[in-house]
Amino acid sequence: MWVRSQPMVSPFPDGFLWGAATSAYQTEGALDADGRGPSVWDSFARRPGAIEGGGDASIATDSYRRWRDDVELVGELGLTAYRFSTAWSRVVPDGRGAINSAALDHYERVVDALLEKGVEPVLTLNHWDMPEALLDEGGWLGRGSVDAFTHYATAVAERLGDRVPWWITQCEPWIVQLLGYQLGIHAPGFADVASSVRAGHHILLAHGAGYDAIRGLTKGRIGCGPNLLPCVPASDSEEDRLAALGSDGFVNRWYLDPLFLGRYPDDMRAHWERVAGPLDFIRDGDLAQIGGRMDFLGLNFYSRRVMRAAEPGPGRPFPWQVVRAPEESRLTDEGTEIVPGALTELLVRLKTDYPEVPILITENGLVSNETPEHDGRVHDVRRIRFLRAHVQAMADAVAQGVNLAGYLHWSLLDNFEWALGYRPRFGLVYVDYPTQTRIPKDSARHYAALIAANGDLDAVPEEGGEAAEADASGVFG
Ligand code: FCB
Repeated sequence: MWVRSQPMVSPFPDGFLWGAATSAYQTEGALDADGRGPSVWDSFARRPGAIEGGGDASIATDSYRRWRDDVELVGELGLTAYRFSTAWSRVVPDGRGAINSAALDHYERVVDALLEKGVEPVLTLNHWDMPEALLDEGGWLGRGSVDAFTHYATAVAERLGDRVPWWITQCEPWIVQLLGYQLGIHAPGFADVASSVRAGHHILLAHGAGYDAIRGLTKGRIGCGPNLLPCVPASDSEEDRLAALGSDGFVNRWYLDPLFLGRYPDDMRAHWERVAGPLDFIRDGDLAQIGGRMDFLGLNFYSRRVMRAAEPGPGRPFPWQVVRAPEESRLTDEGTEIVPGALTELLVRLKTDYPEVPILITENGLVSNETPEHDGRVHDVRRIRFLRAHVQAMADAVAQGVNLAGYLHWSLLDNFEWALGYRPRFGLVYVDYPTQTRIPKDSARHYAALIAANGDLDAVPEEGGEAAEADASGVFG
């Protein structure tokens, strides 16, 4: 009998970008090379107890020196996009003054090498490494941070604007505001809930002002890169439903509404006014300066928040609280719930609630701490499954008409995971830190095959053996 083999059909459009992401501070090391100035993370990392395991980023993955190796890896995996960040304190060592052209020379070499391989560079301007000098005004608490950022963004765009197609002004404003200014567990280590919202506002303002400063310097798309976490109620109660709505205001709408609609959401504004008093740092004209400057949305997606109503109290300024994920949930090695379906819902919601722009998933990944085995390979089957589940989630969103431009996995390499140091491993490629040897994990090979099939999961079956083992141990599935 004749069986006609069906041509495989990818659910993703031609030209869909498949890539991986890193950031300067987490990978570069070489903190004193080529005239770099200190960043807020340098001093924060020196605080006793600030970094788990006591490590710092002085070597990290040594990528400032080994950048050619990284670009080679990008090529070997067949990635079509690579996201990295330029280090703010390399480009403007003292925060406001002279531009350090040696740093721009470096990033120009990286960009050109990527382009030579046919890889689209995705450049993040602020991935958290603000120059230390700007702390004289309290970092993002000072309104002068906005001008400092546009000065920096302009310098980078003047040099690279002609060849970088994707620009992300700010990475995860909520995380900087929350961890850096509200909880004090990221640089600059301020713990003041009332003023944290000021920092967040200035970050958004810097997005808008930065957009205007570089819009004329590049034909590339410019956007902001929030991390979004769908918030779901822990129960059917009206109280928990309101808790989820409130949390959505805190995490998601506080950023999406000004970026896309040019206004802060009223419900969250009321919560903030109760906690922080009058938000008088939001000046007339600010929202007009923030809104409507999103050529694309850079979306970082990791998980969701399950919410329950709770009285505000010490350490809990708002009337809600995150609860543990349901018993049956799949968790990463860091205890984060794995919920690919929430990505589909989020993408569809964005399309419904906000003006439509292309969405580039700029981060998605998991901590999965496998290390090399007897055969020298890293059998990270859980990362393979995670990847496949999220590719399926994206395919479902595309089928519902979501305009998705690409997917960038976090991360290309294991790297310095901020306050958690080197313990969590997020990479497609394993890094043996003492020797800096890079070993592509099984997930990297699998991703390469998926990329070659433009994300057609049927064309790239999950290999049976290892997956079955993981099932048997109950670790994933
Ligand atoms: C995101 C950050 C990124 C990395 C991943 C795991 O919040 O943008 O630098 O830490 O989480």
